[in-house]
Amino acid sequence: MAELAGVSVRTLHHYDEIGLVRPSARTAGGYRAYAAGDVERLREVLGYRRLGFGLREIADLVDDPDTDAVAHLRRLRGLLVEQRDRAAAMVTAIDKELEARALGIRTTPEEQLQVFGAQLYEVIGSAYPATRCTEPRIAARIWDALGDARTVLNVGAGTGSYEPGDRDVTAVEPSAVMRAQRPAGAAPCVAASAEQLPFEDGSFDAAMAVSTVHHWQDAVAGLREMRRVARRVVVLTYDASSPGWAQRFWLSRDYLPEFEGLLDHWPSLADLTGAIGGHAEPVLIPWDCADGFFEAYWRRPEAYLDEHVRRAVSVWSRVGPEAEQRAVDGLRDDLSSGRWAERNRDLVAHDAAELGLRLLVA
Ligand SMILES: C[S@@+](CC[C@H](N)C(=O)[O-])C[C@H]1O[C@@H](n2cnc3c(N)ncnc32)[C@H](O)[C@@H]1O
Repeated sequence: MAELAGVSVRTLHHYDEIGLVRPSARTAGGYRAYAAGDVERLREVLGYRRLGFGLREIADLVDDPDTDAVAHLRRLRGLLVEQRDRAAAMVTAIDKELEARALGIRTTPEEQLQVFGAQLYEVIGSAYPATRCTEPRIAARIWDALGDARTVLNVGAGTGSYEPGDRDVTAVEPSAVMRAQRPAGAAPCVAASAEQLPFEDGSFDAAMAVSTVHHWQDAVAGLREMRRVARRVVVLTYDASSPGWAQRFWLSRDYLPEFEGLLDHWPSLADLTGAIGGHAEPVLIPWDCADGFFEAYWRRPEAYLDEHVRRAVSVWSRVGPEAEQRAVDGLRDDLSSGRWAERNRDLVAHDAAELGLRLLVA
């Protein structure tokens, strides 16, 4: 069996021990005897393994009573095709960078990450759950805005931090790394992008998107797609169009000016609300915000010195290691000299901050 499947005997024993692939019988001599059904199951396990799924998640997949062998083959095929296309896009991007380097042109960190196409989260996603989770006060605002929607589509769902537990949720997430980190029992998740939602018009009562629109290749197209497939749309995003927006947060203003450049081509708030035909409401960030997004630690500056905090926020990977190191060194110096406290003295008096977070509702 090991020889046929191209795995070690130890692997087969391990799968047996953890209950992932248990042979139906033993020979008189004590050897494991694999029946046709066991072979089918082993093939599924190895297929998902090859795609990078963890053993725990594979167990959930292959034990799902609603998925038969044909459904597994279809799913595996879809995932493999997606992986092949992504590999082809990476080869093209690498060729482009090799050409640029041969001509002596240096690429920016962001261009280097484009090697991964839209899948920045394939690279940084595994660090996400360390500090990213539901912030209950923000979740309450989102769930309120969903109104009485029963069926909800969560676009750019990630690990599902803001999925309401009392509704019928379908998630959409393009990154396999993020999908694999969804907790057991989370809503079913479709591999797709906001710009092309694989659903009929008006399929859902509501569509939501949280902290994801700024990652989409075409934010307006994605929002229009949400509008198309759902009767109500709720989006948590940023207003980067009001004058002086980059100056409102001390971290980008004093330590990481590169942040502004990341949202250079970002549509205005009017374009974003226009795409869904709705309005924007400010969302204040509590001083003890549980979800560790970029601005979350506005009153807890020491947090930004922690590598785990930074790795769970895409901004730090997108600005590149040099800017990150400079910002962290500068902040560390100012914290120990008391300069940060002096400059930001007024912050301690606030329990929540207006840093451009907006809830778009339509
Ligand atoms: C900061 S995470 C937010 C995840 C989740 N919504 C939350 O609030 O925890 C951004 C997510 O957007 C996803 N994403 C990136 N490009 C996307 C696209 N074009 N369409 C849909 N999702 C996308 C990423 O893979 C990532 O999981």
